[in-house]
Amino acid sequence: MARILALETSCDETAAAVVTGDGQSPAVALSNVVASQIALHAQYGGVFPDLAAREHTKRVLPVIALALKEAGLTTDIHAKGEALQAALRSIDAIAVTVGPGLIGPLLIGTTAAKQLAVLTTKPLLPINHWEGHLYSVFLGAEDGTPPKFPLLFLTVSGGHTSLILMRDHFTYEILGSTIDDAAGEAFDKCARLLGLGYPGGPAISRHAGLAREVNATLDTVILPRPMLERHSLQFSFSGLKTAVRYAIDRGQIHLPAQLDVAARAVEDAIVDVLVGRLRQAVAQYTPATVAVVGGVSANPELRRRATQEITHCPVLIPKFEYCTDNAAMIGAAGLFRYTQGVGIAPNPLEVDANAALRLASA
Ligand code: KG4
Ligand code: ZN
Repeated sequence: MARILALETSCDETAAAVVTGDGQSPAVALSNVVASQIALHAQYGGVFPDLAAREHTKRVLPVIALALKEAGLTTDIHAKGEALQAALRSIDAIAVTVGPGLIGPLLIGTTAAKQLAVLTTKPLLPINHWEGHLYSVFLGAEDGTPPKFPLLFLTVSGGHTSLILMRDHFTYEILGSTIDDAAGEAFDKCARLLGLGYPGGPAISRHAGLAREVNATLDTVILPRPMLERHSLQFSFSGLKTAVRYAIDRGQIHLPAQLDVAARAVEDAIVDVLVGRLRQAVAQYTPATVAVVGGVSANPELRRRATQEITHCPVLIPKFEYCTDNAAMIGAAGLFRYTQGVGIAPNPLEVDANAALRLASA
């Protein structure tokens, strides 16, 4: 059994986790600490990069201390000296998100991880944030079904929307991506048009849920489902926010009176496109398992419809706490890499953050 300490600071969550496993069966998170900055950034209507970096600087060490304590490796979050060193000695390797993301925030986590790796002489595993989201399914699905290759992912977050085929560990084939906005971005931008705060996804899904409860729908306008008719596996969401803006301007959506039904219409349009494309990819590639990962996979309607409409194979959706940004998923990717000896940094001091890092195989 190996034990990995993982850090994630690519955006607005300062996160640390301790993950364990043998690299064969699903990984187990012994702790998963996330210090969210959402409340801080909400007043600006989005993430403010410099402010995020400053907050990461303040929080990264306390968050690591808490992750060690919650994993049972220290008895005190103020552990220092020998107690702290003993906890770090019991870790086999350190994993850190090196990109993609905001460069200031990424540098804080990367620098902290490099220093820890050098001081403890433990191996350092630089992890792509996207690989982390994919490996969140290796932390165990809600019903305990283990993932099997070929594994087809629908990855949906604030920055990305793609269909990725994984035929084996660390092997990624990108089948289709968004040509403009990501699904989470579509949620966030439409939420802003509807007068809801940041982040928009949870707010839209809350209001949509209220409309669903009383079976109410928006009858004045049909929002577009872009590209669903075409054969490609690409996504496009920018037309949706334009349609919402026009509908508001033309008086087809009255706010705040029709907020709940409008939120439901937006959610239905996004989920229709996501599940439609996913079904298309399943028919084309016949995977052994389907998984939905990334922040938007926290959306209950997407979870429900993906599970209901994909009948060809099991559909795995990570536990809620592993959907939005967290360090346990980075630890899971690090654990599989460490146990298989793939991607350990030859020299921790040469590990660099890269805001535009792309997902690459092996
Ligand atoms: O993966 P994530 O935490 O960060 C990125 O790497 O982008 O994803 C954040 C995105 C945001 O756009 C947020 O609005 C969306 O995930 N999100 C949701 C829900 N919870 C988070 N979208 C729809 N419904 C939700 N319940
Ligand atoms: Zn993410």
